[in-house]
Amino acid sequence: MSDPHASILASLDSLAGAYAARFESAQTEQALRDENAKVLGKKGELTAILKEMGKVPADARKAIGERVNTLKSEVEGAFEARLKAILRKAREAELSLPPFDLTLPGRAPSRRGHPHPISIVRDEIVGIFESMGFAVFDGPEIDTAANNFDKLGFPPDHPATDMHDTFYTKAGHVLRTHTSNIQVRAMSTMKPPFAFIAPGACYRVDSDITHSPMFHQIEAFMVDEHVTLAHLKGVLREFAERFYGSGTPIRLRPSYFPFTEPSAEVDVGCVFCKRADGTRAGCAVCKQSGWLEILGSGMIDPVVFTECGIDPERWSGFALGMGLERQAMLRYGIPEIRFLFENDPRFLAQF
Ligand code: DAH
Repeated sequence: MSDPHASILASLDSLAGAYAARFESAQTEQALRDENAKVLGKKGELTAILKEMGKVPADARKAIGERVNTLKSEVEGAFEARLKAILRKAREAELSLPPFDLTLPGRAPSRRGHPHPISIVRDEIVGIFESMGFAVFDGPEIDTAANNFDKLGFPPDHPATDMHDTFYTKAGHVLRTHTSNIQVRAMSTMKPPFAFIAPGACYRVDSDITHSPMFHQIEAFMVDEHVTLAHLKGVLREFAERFYGSGTPIRLRPSYFPFTEPSAEVDVGCVFCKRADGTRAGCAVCKQSGWLEILGSGMIDPVVFTECGIDPERWSGFALGMGLERQAMLRYGIPEIRFLFENDPRFLAQF
């Protein structure tokens, strides 16, 4: 092999005699492309031969160059022809298959959507109140300041009405800051006696580990002759039993809301440090108190009745409102509110 000229000619001859059979034996497009690359690719055989050209005496180079070019175009032609044949064969095989049966049952998606914990908790709470005779009442998320604040007894300069706390629209409406606007709407249009449960989204300029600018509440209220604090307490007890588990104690702490008098914040016995015997050891979640605040409530203030055209001398009622995110976090031990808004399927699938 000392003569580069002779060695190149030998390589060309052997390649010319071999490539066609190799292309023929390739059965798939990929196999054919691989074979083609072995000849024409950057590290291919023909490319390697071309690199040897420099060693050939100048007078022989032209003839070999022509030989190489001819072989190259033959290889390219053979590749195209074989590719066509392979694709045609694949297409024919496809067409000769029995026709696709459109009546076959579909395959179920392997990963399904899942109800959001807020929806689960909302439906369950609505169900508990419905079973006690409450009907669902709906109201808009964008409402007048009158329905959201004034008719509920908020004085005009109440801090809650501040721009820092409330989203106002350009037209002067508010994104409701609580579902209590539904009390006003129901009481202004319905004649007592009635009892309603009203879930919905609310908005406040507030965002931290336990607050989101959009969140959910459920409002419940009952108006009849002779409704007393005892009725409120009975409903709260039933709710705590059924939502937080049987034997869950409640306690009412005096509080203040513009739309109730008297008002009470309601706690349930801490669901995290409860022991088998029903006592509570105290833990970080309840700050060692053994109690968790779950909602605000009270007897509807006569001022609200008057604003809504209901005679406070004849009718009385109670109202309560609770945050759904809070109930979900307590119920499922969710540590941060953002989990409820990220909608990560790995999180949602746990409920
Ligand atoms: N609207 C109150 C809030 O957003 C919750 C509330 C408290 C609703 C007492 C009521 C109630 O109906 O009686 O914090």
